[in-house]
Amino acid sequence: MTIPDAAVAPPPNDRMLRLVRAAMTLPPRVRGPLGSTLLRVPHPTPRLMAFMVSPEVRSDPWALYRDLRSRYPLRRVPPGLWLVSRHADAAMLARHPHLSVDETKSRLFGNVGGGGPFTEFVRAIMLFRDPPDHDRLRRLVARAFTPRRVEELRPQVEALTARRLDALEARGRADLLAELAYPLPVDVICEMIGVPEADRALFPAWAGSLAARFDLEPLRTPEIDRRGDEAIGELGAYIDGLIDDTSRRKPAGVLDTLVATSEEGDRLTRQEVITTCGLLLMAGHETTANLIANGVLALLGQPDELAALRAGDVPIELAVDELLRHDGPVQLVQRVVLEDLDVNGTTIPAGDQMVLLFGAANRDPDVFHDPERLDLSRHPNPHLAFSSGIHACLGASLARMEAAVVLRQLLDRFPKLRLDGHPRWRDTFVLRGLRSLPVTWD
Ligand code: HEM
Repeated sequence: MTIPDAAVAPPPNDRMLRLVRAAMTLPPRVRGPLGSTLLRVPHPTPRLMAFMVSPEVRSDPWALYRDLRSRYPLRRVPPGLWLVSRHADAAMLARHPHLSVDETKSRLFGNVGGGGPFTEFVRAIMLFRDPPDHDRLRRLVARAFTPRRVEELRPQVEALTARRLDALEARGRADLLAELAYPLPVDVICEMIGVPEADRALFPAWAGSLAARFDLEPLRTPEIDRRGDEAIGELGAYIDGLIDDTSRRKPAGVLDTLVATSEEGDRLTRQEVITTCGLLLMAGHETTANLIANGVLALLGQPDELAALRAGDVPIELAVDELLRHDGPVQLVQRVVLEDLDVNGTTIPAGDQMVLLFGAANRDPDVFHDPERLDLSRHPNPHLAFSSGIHACLGASLARMEAAVVLRQLLDRFPKLRLDGHPRWRDTFVLRGLRSLPVTWD
């Protein structure tokens, strides 16, 4: 079955085609597996993929998702990539024991990232490890993320948010992405790890470089890759120093917990402690920034819902989950099929890769009534914004708490908050977020 171009994909714009063509000139070593896969795909599929990452779709992917969900819920993209867009399938596959997060097990695997420090880092973190390695790492790190630990952080998150808003208040206008949503999660992760205040200025640049390095290969440049490698090296050296310097790091932070963690003789090695801190910075930064910024944008576009939230008619916790469902920061995750798999009568061969489109699943009318509507009091809300199964987001309670604190303070302190121009979406593929969010208030 081939999707007619006209059905789901008008021709991609020139810029995107130029990017795809430019990426085709890179050696496979540099491109990595997903980029190589997308680029190897014969016509018309590259057009579909190029279309999916085009600015038009990035600003409004919902029509494409609707089309995929209703007409091609399990869409094969040669030579072996499967797009999954329905909630029931995505939720089932996220939990399936025969699917792996380790791309090196894919038959489409080229040479992820071409080696180098960032590639080594990515291969070591739990996000891309299967059991038993995954379970051991997660069990040891999970102690730093208990609901009690997250609640203990709340006063610090409130103080960090207030500090950022104090700096804005007199100005009357700001880019809320650059000045609040983007830096705040880095403040919080530094606080959580136990990084001393004096050193925190180092972190935003590292976080930005890691996020850019993590993007889809055709959208990266050799310069982005170089900066990502440097960032992981510098961050690693910094954390390594902080492990020894017990007098400098904040007591009872995650770093302390990770260093001290041991369970029946098992403990994290020094290198594992370092890579875990890198993972927290990478996994918790742009995701949370996008939740805050996408969330504020959605609220400003729905004055009735915003008014209900301001008036306290809707619990902030329900509102945060609806914002996650409606326009979540992580649009998809990938899995490798380890054994032939039957999905609704279709056999997916071992070695193929599945792309679970959570953004599409979260608006599936079979699960969510009136799914395109932002309904802040929606309950229950079984969205997949944090995934499901053994890799479900470890930082979910922290992200939820952070977003609730920020939205509450922002709405209380800026009753006349409104858009000031056109927000622009980034071209990123996996993470959906804004490039800027210009706002004003009186
Ligand atoms: C709104 C913000 C966030 C969203 C939408 C989000 C989303 C996700 C998703 C979808 C996954 C699963 C990936 C998969 O199934 O392959 C994940 C995993 C993970 N996230 Fe988050 N995340 C957010 C914030 C955070 C924060 C603040 C942290 C920590 C500081 C964090 C740490 C992690 C870790 C450690 C994993 C790996 C879990 C594992 O592999 O077992 N996340 N996140």
